[in-house]
Amino acid sequence: MSDVENIKQLDLDNNLHSWSKQGDLNPEVITKAEGIYFWNEEGKKFFDMSSQLVNVNIGHGNSKVIAAIKDQADKFPYMGPGTAFAAKSKLAAKLIEIAPDNMEKVFFTIGGAESNENAIKIAKMFTGRHKIFSRYRSYHGATYGASNLSGEPRRFVSEPGIPGFVKFFDPYLYRSPIDFASEKEAAQYYLNQLREQIIYEGRASVAAVVIETVTGSNGVIIPPDGYLKGLRKICDEFNILLICDEVMAGFGRTGEWFACDNWDVKPDIITFAKGITSGYVPLGGVLVSSEIAEYFNEEKLMCGLTYSGHPMGCAAGLATLEVYEEENLIENSRNMGKVLGEKLEAIKDQHSSVGDVRYIGLFSAVELVKDKKTREPLTEYDNDQEGIMAGILKKLKNAGFSTYFHENILIVAPPLIIKEEELAVGLQILDDVLNEVDLMIA
Ligand SMILES: Cc1ncc(COP(=O)(O)O)c(C=O)c1O
Repeated sequence: MSDVENIKQLDLDNNLHSWSKQGDLNPEVITKAEGIYFWNEEGKKFFDMSSQLVNVNIGHGNSKVIAAIKDQADKFPYMGPGTAFAAKSKLAAKLIEIAPDNMEKVFFTIGGAESNENAIKIAKMFTGRHKIFSRYRSYHGATYGASNLSGEPRRFVSEPGIPGFVKFFDPYLYRSPIDFASEKEAAQYYLNQLREQIIYEGRASVAAVVIETVTGSNGVIIPPDGYLKGLRKICDEFNILLICDEVMAGFGRTGEWFACDNWDVKPDIITFAKGITSGYVPLGGVLVSSEIAEYFNEEKLMCGLTYSGHPMGCAAGLATLEVYEEENLIENSRNMGKVLGEKLEAIKDQHSSVGDVRYIGLFSAVELVKDKKTREPLTEYDNDQEGIMAGILKKLKNAGFSTYFHENILIVAPPLIIKEEELAVGLQILDDVLNEVDLMIA
């Protein structure tokens, strides 16, 4: 058995992989990753068109971040959360500087799920209320609370759910049963429904409304005109906290530091992870507003993690934020996002299997259908028995385009360092594979 075969076999024999039947796996053995590419054991090169799990925003192998991690490891790789040290203090201060101006403090976690867990606890402590609203087409993490917060099928395994967790419908206009005259009208409709639902649930018992500012894995659903401002207004009316999960959408992905900046909306709490370190080491966090920060001057913050403010994460996070600034990655996301949008629109025009494309910055989705007119999805919700989407992903992978899918939707979210020529080459592969999908549905 070759070394590579041995690595794969050891993996299959000993590791449990996420969200999969373990008998069906064939993991790629990776030997190298640089910039927007990674390579397997045979030297085959892949465009990383999803930035792995939409987290490797600065691309692979950034020497500045790697040096910061090494340097911190030399000083001290671990120190308890009750201590202060340079990387943690400076990172917290930098985050407060780039976050919306009502944000005052940060509680560091290890990843996205823990950020949402702690945000829920903070909202309950601060408001003294227990109900938490979130949307159906959402993913907020796989721990018990975060998975209850999620609306999509990955929630089901944690059910019966936590009492007080209430779901509401997303303004997912492409699949809305109503044909609205404008985005504004649609936004108002969904807001009216939510407002009514809050009243029916007992307005004085709702602690928070949690949204992915731009829904990520569930299809890059971009809030329609007026939706976020309207949501802020409803939350203010009932003294409910607005929590924006920016785990995927934060740190330049949408062309702004935080996705909520696109609509000039200030949440009470922002949760983040992924892009803060670009995935180089695990780190997440919860940003809280001045009111919440001040509340905990007098009240105990009943949150804690052995690895809260882990030195390696903080050092990587600080260096990563510097990379975003030095390499103008937020701006590049905005500029390349325009190119991406134009190319996706052309792809939609050319392919009978592409029902919709949605994009903001370098965050985009291609929604596949059986029929453009009826919008019948290529695969039924939570029911792709034949593995059609996995088959399409395999074709893309064989052609050197690595990404992931959710339901009938392909995610396209390359690292924010991507250049126009690279985007063109990558999207040509997608275009070619979609020709085959067109034939599949013909
Ligand atoms: C919007 C959102 N929130 C939370 C999470 C969970 O993050 P983690 O996997 O780091 O726990 C994810 C992961 O994909 C996410 O996309």
